[in-house]
Order: sequence, then structure tokens, then C-alpha cells
Amino acid sequence: MRGELCIGFASILSFASMMLLIFLQVGQINTSTIPRKIAMVKVNTSGYGAALEAALFNPIFGLYTINASAPLQTEQGLRQLYEFGLYSYCAFVDETKGTCGNHTIGEQFKPYDDITADMFSNYSFLSSTLIPETTFQDSKYLGQSSKAAYWMILFGTICAALALLTGIAKNNLTFFVSAIFSIGGSVILLIGASIWTVMIKKSQAINTAVNPLNQVKIGITVTEGNGLFILWAAFVCLFVSVIPYMLSCCTYRG
Ligand SMILES: *[C@@H]1O[C@H](CO)[C@@H](O)[C@H](O)[C@H]1NC(C)=O
Ligand SMILES: *[C@@H]1O[C@H](CO)[C@@H](O)[C@H](O)[C@H]1NC(C)=O
Ligand SMILES: *[C@@H]1O[C@H](CO)[C@@H](O)[C@H](O)[C@H]1NC(C)=O
Repeated sequence: MRGELCIGFASILSFASMMLLIFLQVGQINTSTIPRKIAMVKVNTSGYGAALEAALFNPIFGLYTINASAPLQTEQGLRQLYEFGLYSYCAFVDETKGTCGNHTIGEQFKPYDDITADMFSNYSFLSSTLIPETTFQDSKYLGQSSKAAYWMILFGTICAALALLTGIAKNNLTFFVSAIFSIGGSVILLIGASIWTVMIKKSQAINTAVNPLNQVKIGITVTEGNGLFILWAAFVCLFVSVIPYMLSCCTYRG
């Protein structure tokens, strides 16, 4: 009976991990025009207009668009809030109204490129001189890292599913295989979650960056999205499931 309990506990944990990871991804594949609510990272640009005005001593017109459905990356105006996910990113003109970009497998997190591609060309030119150099602009590093992290998350999902499935056949060998999958999966998820955490922390350098003309903050804020917490929760579930899987494989007497 104790063996049954142990394996039941392991199955619940790997199931929880798998569901969190599926939720994390499906929440972003959703193709409806209503933007999804799960994001890895959010970029709030609402202070940028004021920062630009303060730096140039001139009123800024038409930096932002109020048209929620204007297509992205076509110089139609900046949005207040950008939410980046694993498959696409969405841009919002206010709390609720926004539009999403194309869905891409292994979407690259390139906040600076995506944001400046929405500005009229004279503003994107200005931005390239006014926004101080930080990791936020390092699209090569952020793009490559986010793509790598995407594959880690996908493989981690597959490992969690395989751990769950092989654990269903009740014998010591399959529990051993499950333990291997949950160990492998949690290592991969740990790498993926760490990459995202480091990327977000590093791009948050923009939060305190000041523009060189007047030493005033640039008005762009990077914050973690709920997707990052879901990813860490999925890692913890799969990691903890290693213990009952290992116990089961050594002690189960079917
Ligand atoms: C963006 O930042 C501004 C100013 O810091 C804040 O008032 C606003 O609520 C933020 N928007 C969102 C959607 O978080
Ligand atoms: C908003 O953008 C869409 C797509 O480009 C366009 O069809 C629509 O006419 C625009 N709405 C306004 C009010 O400009
Ligand atoms: C989306 O895809 C279309 C067609 O491939 C392309 O023209 C457009 O620029 C893409 N939009 C974004 C935001 O990448």
C-alpha cells in the first residue's frame, strides 16, 4: 500500500508539472484576436513619451497609437504595454485592448527591435541615440537565449509527459525509467527557467537607465510575466517527483 501511495504522489507531481507546461504554451498559442493573458515578460513603455519630451524640450506628437488593431512592426505608433511569450508577443494600447504578432515556434525575445519597429522612423532614430546602451538593446543575446530556453521548455514538457506515462505500468523498471525522465526533465527545465530569469533581470537594466541628455529615467519598465512563475512551479513539481519515483523504483513490491 505504501508503494501505491508513493507512486501516486509521483504521478500527481509529474502530471501537475506537465499540465503547467502545457498551460504555459497553450495560453500563448491561442489564435483568437483576444490577446492571451500569459506572458514571460512585460515591457511598459508608458513613461517613454514624457521622457522624450523632457529630453527634447518639445512636445511629442504621434509617438503612441490609440488604434488597438493596427498591425505591429509597421511604424504605426508605440503601444503602452508589450507582453512577450513563447510563441508571439502582444501589444496593448490600454489595459485590455491590443493586438498580437505572428505565431512563431521559438519566438525570440527582442524587445528593443519590436518596440522601435512600431515607432515612426524619426522617433526610432531618436530612440537609438537617447536610449542608453543596456542589455535591453542586446537583441542578439536576448533573441538567442530565448530561443534556446524555448527548446528547453518544450523538451522539459516531453520529459514530464514521459515520466508520467512510463510510471503508469507498475514495476520497478518502469519506475526507474520514470525517475530518469523526471531527473532529465527537471535539469532541462531548470536551465530554461534560469535562462529566462537571467534574461529578464539583465534587461531590467533599462528600468533605472537614464538618458544621457538630462539624466532622467527613460520611462521604460521591464517586469516578469506570470509565465515565468508557472515555469518555475513546473520545475519544482517535476524536481520533487524525482524522490517518490526513486523510492518506488527501489522499494516497490508489485
Ligand atoms: C505602466 O506604467 C505606468 C507608469 O509607471 C502605470 O501607471 C501603468 O499602470 C502601467 N501599465 C500597466 C498595464 O501595467
Ligand atoms: C486601425 O487599424 C486598422 C488596421 O490597420 C485599420 O483597418 C483601421 O481603419 C484603423 N482604425 C482607425 C480608427 O484608424
Ligand atoms: C507577420 O507575417 C506577415 C506575412 O508573413 C509579415 O508580412 C508580417 O511582417 C509579420 N508581422 C510581424 C509583426 O512579424
